[in-house]
Amino acid sequence: MAPVIISVANRKGGTGKSTTAVHLAAGIARRGRRTLLIDLDTLGHAGLLLGLQAKPGSVTSHDLITSAGGADLSPAVMDSPVNGLDVICADRNRGPGENGAKPLALRNLLLADENVDRYEAVVIDTAPAYDQSLVVALAASDAVLIPFVPHPLAVEGIRQFMRIALMIRMKLNPGLKSFGMVATQMNQQSALHRHVVESVRHEFGASRLVGAIRSDIQLARCAASHMPIYDLYPASRGASDYHLLTEAVISGWFGTRDVVYAEAAKTSARV
Ligand SMILES: Nc1ncnc2c1ncn2[C@@H]1O[C@H](COP(=O)(O)OP(=O)(O)O)[C@@H](O)[C@H]1O
Ligand SMILES: [Mg+2]
Repeated sequence: MAPVIISVANRKGGTGKSTTAVHLAAGIARRGRRTLLIDLDTLGHAGLLLGLQAKPGSVTSHDLITSAGGADLSPAVMDSPVNGLDVICADRNRGPGENGAKPLALRNLLLADENVDRYEAVVIDTAPAYDQSLVVALAASDAVLIPFVPHPLAVEGIRQFMRIALMIRMKLNPGLKSFGMVATQMNQQSALHRHVVESVRHEFGASRLVGAIRSDIQLARCAASHMPIYDLYPASRGASDYHLLTEAVISGWFGTRDVVYAEAAKTSARV
């Protein structure tokens, strides 16, 4: 069966996209569901968070989407320190937007390569920009997860992002059906944070607010250890919140493909 393909995206930088992509992908893999993480951001942070980067001359995600990498994914796939999680690293030597990719490049590759069916999920980390690699990611995806830091401009940022995503759905990918938002770096003591999260829930619907990740310095520490938080700090807030997010995504998006469900809403009830 074809995997569920999830982009983690927001035009704003520093909203926890790479942290979320890595912890969602690792969380799904830890549940025995083989997962492929594709890093489409030339910063390469998703790979680096797992201690991985493309070796000189090796095939990267950017080679694949410009078809310089050939017609199958396997030369680009790397093992990761997490069981059941494979990674395709970004080309960190490429400038942002400097990729000349065709919009359907990744989608066609994922459809054509039969090895892709060994995965239950493909998670794509994206750059904080409206560039060709974002189009490529959304054109390949069934679902998009939008991490946001609950600051006053976050709602407007999500609104703008949703306009792009809906346009890509209309023009390129009618299969892009599921949309979810996750608050990151959340401080539940902050009235402002709670208010912004409420606004997101009100504007986009409770079922679309698929989780909230509290602020946790251990998540930043993991970056230095090149491991997800689950084994390093299993009792931390970050581990607990990413476990809940993973469960919400699996129960919402892995069954049928078209909506975000009540299970996800249950998670958001704890915000
Ligand atoms: N929940 C969190 N609590 C504390 N720090 C976080 C949290 N999520 C992310 N960070 C930190 O915030 C910074 C930006 O996160 P990152 O995932 O790289 O964002 P993006 O990919 O959107 O630019 C990183 O230093 C990361 O360690
Ligand atoms: Mg990033």
